[in-house]
Amino acid sequence: MKKPFIAGNWKMFKTIDEAKNLVQTIKAGIGKLHDCQIVICPPYTALCEISKLLQDSHLELGAQNMHPETEGAFTGEISPLMLKDVKCRYVILGHSERRQYFGESNAFINEKIKTALKYSLIPIICVGETLAQREARTQFEIVKQQMDESLKDISKDEMMRTVIAYEPVWAIGTGQTATPEQAEQMQSYIRRLLNEMYGKEVAGRIPILYGGSVKPDNIALLIQKPNIDGALVGGASLKGENFVQIIMNAQSQIEAGLQS
Ligand code: PGA
Repeated sequence: MKKPFIAGNWKMFKTIDEAKNLVQTIKAGIGKLHDCQIVICPPYTALCEISKLLQDSHLELGAQNMHPETEGAFTGEISPLMLKDVKCRYVILGHSERRQYFGESNAFINEKIKTALKYSLIPIICVGETLAQREARTQFEIVKQQMDESLKDISKDEMMRTVIAYEPVWAIGTGQTATPEQAEQMQSYIRRLLNEMYGKEVAGRIPILYGGSVKPDNIALLIQKPNIDGALVGGASLKGENFVQIIMNAQSQIEAGLQS
């Protein structure tokens, strides 16, 4: 049975107190549900406190970004060792906001992925096209290039410890979700690329998430597609009730699919 993988990307929201309240709501809301893999990615300032709150739960902790060096004169940056220090298990890399506002290239993202893997952090690697690229019908080319360049020199064994997130830029924070068919079309393409690059076993094991305006009322249709293993949720992860509802709806959809 597919185990839904739901990650919450809180972006630049939540003070420490707000973050703690949000985690308490999520913990209370999901109760003992264990069939779902849940990762929350608070801002850096809240990681340490949230890490403590997660010690007795199966929710996992992720960061939203990371520098590829372990230490050095990089003012304002955070290293993989610092993330390990606060017990992060995951790190989002290559998010389109990092690419767009901070000029991150595929080559730089590739360096980060390599260091993350070296220090046993699981990268959630984001790919996805802009609206202009989709309108020019170059979305498959763009995603292939992002995959080729950002996964350069990553071995099969390392690849087993990664998660991919397809996030079409035009769907992020816009309320305009990709249709389940559009998402499935790209995600089955990503699965095919992984198959070509790393073989069937690895390709079959990597969770491929969809991200872009995921809400409680659209998760069910998305998760029922064969190549959508879960979601990377931005805006809707900032309200505990919404995030919990997304998890519950994903889980019920999978169970309903099994019975039908
Ligand atoms: P959104 O963001 O759910 O607010 O569209 C998704 C993301 O950026 O990861």
